[in-house]
Amino acid sequence: MIEKERVPNHVGVIMDGNGRWAKARMLPRVAGHNAGMESMKKIVIAASNMGIKNLTVYAFSTENWKRSTEEVNGIFKLIVKYVKSELEELIENNVHINIIGEYDMLPQDSVEAIDKLVASTKGDDGLNFNIALNYGGRAEIVKSVNALFEAKKQEEVNGIFEPVTEADISRYLYTGSANFDIPDPDLIIRTSGEERMSNFLVWQAAYSELMFTDTLWPDFTPEEFEEMVERFTHRDRRFGGRNKEDK
Ligand code: IPE
Ligand code: IPE
Ligand code: MG
Repeated sequence: MIEKERVPNHVGVIMDGNGRWAKARMLPRVAGHNAGMESMKKIVIAASNMGIKNLTVYAFSTENWKRSTEEVNGIFKLIVKYVKSELEELIENNVHINIIGEYDMLPQDSVEAIDKLVASTKGDDGLNFNIALNYGGRAEIVKSVNALFEAKKQEEVNGIFEPVTEADISRYLYTGSANFDIPDPDLIIRTSGEERMSNFLVWQAAYSELMFTDTLWPDFTPEEFEEMVERFTHRDRRFGGRNKEDK
């Protein structure tokens, strides 16, 4: 077990490989997503037990609408199923849920189920479990810039002309202090052997440590998760500065 002081404050996970997992078993893609949900359940509890404060999972991207209606609807149905079946355990573990992304574009019943879930975990002070749903990093930045544009117009009316700062853009992201106030991820894990970001936390990942595994998401276990977090604790994060040792 890694000491609580050494675990990353925020871990992001790109849960990839459900389709290939299903294909290898000659099952429909939705069966892969179902198996992927089982993995997600275990990782949430593992992260909570390890004392990680923030976990953000990439569940559906703004680009995933390009898939067949059957697959897209299947994914949304599974999310609702997960919400309904896991609620009690999440509350028991003090898990607090946030949704980042334009999830109100999902089918109405999914939106309602998600709203219920979010409302019932409100105030829980354990793990912040952030689900990226209909999320795109670029769309998020555009949304922030537009919110900022409105705020600046108001400032101008009051005779203030301050240039835009990095902090301003951060504030209006879904993760920003104007919304959920989630810190930047320390570690981002992607499964399935693909080594790219696919529009995940584009702004926030500027200094994240990246880790990849060939394991397909439905085969990913709490043991591998813990092993990756352990490896993270040995990374030397310099942020453009110098090693801790050579002052
Ligand atoms: C990730 O698995 C889940 C989502 C993108 C919703 P994929 O469905 O992308 O699985 P592969 O990449 O096709 O194997
Ligand atoms: C990224 O996976 C999105 C999620 C895991 C939700 P994709 O499978 O959609 O990404 P690409 O298309 O391989 O880049
Ligand atoms: Mg994929």
